[in-house]
Amino acid sequence: MPKEEDKATEIASNEDNVFHFEWFPELETGHPEIDEDHKKLVELINLVSDAIEANDGDRCKKMFASFVEFAEDHFRREEVILKKIGFPKIDHHIEYHNKLLVDAHKTRDLCESAEGGLLKECFNELVGFLVDDILKGDIEFIPYMMEHNVVPSNPSLKYPKL
Ligand SMILES: [Fe+2]
Ligand SMILES: [Fe+2]
Repeated sequence: MPKEEDKATEIASNEDNVFHFEWFPELETGHPEIDEDHKKLVELINLVSDAIEANDGDRCKKMFASFVEFAEDHFRREEVILKKIGFPKIDHHIEYHNKLLVDAHKTRDLCESAEGGLLKECFNELVGFLVDDILKGDIEFIPYMMEHNVVPSNPSLKYPKL
């Protein structure tokens, strides 16, 4: 299991506090548009965290919905990029995004009626969702991008070869 994933899972599994998700360089794919989107997703997650800390249920639900909406836009943008560069496993990646979105919509609907402690649980789900996309899912196209000079190759990142 990669180190970054451990770190994020640790954040997600803490029941007592709502943490801010820190962006760290290992999360970068090297593709400017994708990284910009991923940073924005982190920013939106932190706004949900702020709302939970402030005990503001309405703001939390609003921010949560914004996160899911932006994630949907991000997935579509990422798919266009992958199509353009001829990523061979694009169908698998699209299917993966769609599955994540089904889960995200379910969590969003659940959170619409959630209060207090349950909001924290929803937040943890949200962090898990982010980790699934950035850390698990998107790892699969980085080696392809490096091999095809779409992103600079970075030998310090240990991504699996396709
Ligand atoms: Fe992504
Ligand atoms: Fe993705």
